Amino acid sequence: MSCVCSSIRSVKGFSLNSAQKIKFFVDLESISFVRKLKQSQDNDLMPLKFTSLHQNFAAEVSTISLRETFDDSTLAEIRKGMDVYAVLVFRRQTLTDSEQMDFARRLDGELHSKTGASALGKTRLGSEAIADISNVSSEGSLLEQQDRKRLYSLGNRLWHTDASFQDPAGRYSMLHARALPPVDADTLFADERAAFDALDDKTKTFLEGLTCHHSIVHSRQTLGFDFSDEEKLQLPGAFHPFVRNLKRAGRKSLYLASHAGQVMEMSLPEGRLLIWEMIQHATQPEFVYRHKWQDGDLVIWDNRCTMHRATAFDDAKYRRELRRVTTLDLVEAPA
Ligand code: OGA
Ligand code: MN
Repeated sequence: MSCVCSSIRSVKGFSLNSAQKIKFFVDLESISFVRKLKQSQDNDLMPLKFTSLHQNFAAEVSTISLRETFDDSTLAEIRKGMDVYAVLVFRRQTLTDSEQMDFARRLDGELHSKTGASALGKTRLGSEAIADISNVSSEGSLLEQQDRKRLYSLGNRLWHTDASFQDPAGRYSMLHARALPPVDADTLFADERAAFDALDDKTKTFLEGLTCHHSIVHSRQTLGFDFSDEEKLQLPGAFHPFVRNLKRAGRKSLYLASHAGQVMEMSLPEGRLLIWEMIQHATQPEFVYRHKWQDGDLVIWDNRCTMHRATAFDDAKYRRELRRVTTLDLVEAPA
């Protein structure tokens, strides 16, 4: 209202009759209404609401269109939500591949283009930064059971965190459901912050002094999937601390994955046993959220402090198509 009055005052040198004033007022009202409506469509007027999905982590976020989210305050709200919940579920998103990549850049910076599948050759999507999480071939048919892409992607059924076999590793992954099967094909998430908090102080201090080697060659080999010598050269693995310190969130977290195959400060068998024991600890039911996908869901997770894994479904019969973008774990944006 105040902006309408000041606008009327600012029309200097004109004397308006009452009818003109009313029309002018109505025009300004409708312009301001349209602007407000546009803003609310652009999501920058309504504060987001986070509805918890699990006792420790994961929340569903109130209605918002992420491809139209540009304003810093809303992006900061989402980052804060990530710091608290580590997994956020956004329903009913319409996103093209490039809109999904652009949103990821706005939220968290540079995109990862060296995730595991890129070592296998070109994907059908034409960009290394968008991962094809599907059971669909380049020709559009369902993958044969023995197809190498299918055998490789079965590795997603192991508890893992994205791109921990790279340096920089992956930070946020954003997975968008494009076509879902009519049967359950859920994704499980484990909260490694709560798993760390639940350890005794002596164990926490011990783990904080350790470094792991993460390798996708190692994790795929545990399933009997092998890369060629040439592919292996592109996938040397990476070293990361056993415990991550999430400064902005003010939390510490285990940093585990099926990719972790060696603890540098221990013998190989002893280190592997420790990794397995800790993965078992971190994936107990009280730390796990099961996501049941709905059409258009976009789920963001923080790879520094969660693990996830796909679950089995009849992939010879049903199509399941999702697209994933992962950001690089570089310096954090301020929340
Ligand atoms: C991923 C992943 C699990 C799934 O996209 O990184 O592991 O359920 N997906 O598809
Ligand atoms: Mn993954």
